[in-house]
Amino acid sequence: MILHDFTGRAEVIEPLLPAMFTIISENMSEICPSENTLEEDRLSWTQAMHEELRNPEKHWIFIFSGEALAGYTLYRIIGDTLHMDEIQISKPFQGDGRAFPMLMGKLLADAGAAGVETLVSYANRQNLTSQGILAAMGLRVYEETPRGLRYRGRAEDAQAWYYTKYVAI
Ligand SMILES: CC(C)(COP(=O)(O)OP(=O)(O)OC[C@H]1O[C@@H](n2cnc3c(N)ncnc32)[C@H](O)[C@@H]1OP(=O)(O)O)[C@@H](O)C(=O)NCCC(=O)NCCS
Repeated sequence: MILHDFTGRAEVIEPLLPAMFTIISENMSEICPSENTLEEDRLSWTQAMHEELRNPEKHWIFIFSGEALAGYTLYRIIGDTLHMDEIQISKPFQGDGRAFPMLMGKLLADAGAAGVETLVSYANRQNLTSQGILAAMGLRVYEETPRGLRYRGRAEDAQAWYYTKYVAI
């Protein structure tokens, strides 16, 4: 398994969009099924990603197992805040103990290098795994929306959680 940071490389990321959509749509169909058709979702998601490709603040991190895309994480660093926009791991690699720590380790290392103090994220109300992980990382709900929960926490707490869980022996 290998991690690639393709931030700023739209020409490399663009061909990966179909594989990214396959992962997110398969994951989300279980957690919070869409009311639209797959084609509608594909079009709107792809359009949103094309807009994000022009966003200089967006970080694009990928994990491959051989040729196959195993997962990815997307985040933005704005001032001292890191916005965790997405972490998606393909079903066969979920719970393998490698993909998740690789992606989260990269995100937290970048946060540290950029002097990030605060992490923010969002979880759909139906996504209990996401809520569990965010809480374990030390993030707390600061706002509720009709469909989800907005989280905020200290990067230091998340780094301590990561260190204890994956680094310390
Ligand atoms: C969420 C996701 C990225 C996690 O990756 P994963 O490989 O499945 O992660 P794991 O099940 O190995 O969990 C990683 C760690 O998070 C923690 N965790 C997982 N579920 C948890 C829960 N419900 N409550 C508390 N902690 C939890 C555990 O500490 C776990 O480590 P463990 O091996 O000691 O149990 C992956 O399941 C995924 O892509 N899901 C669909 C997309 C999604 O929901 N994305 C948003 C996530 S924030």
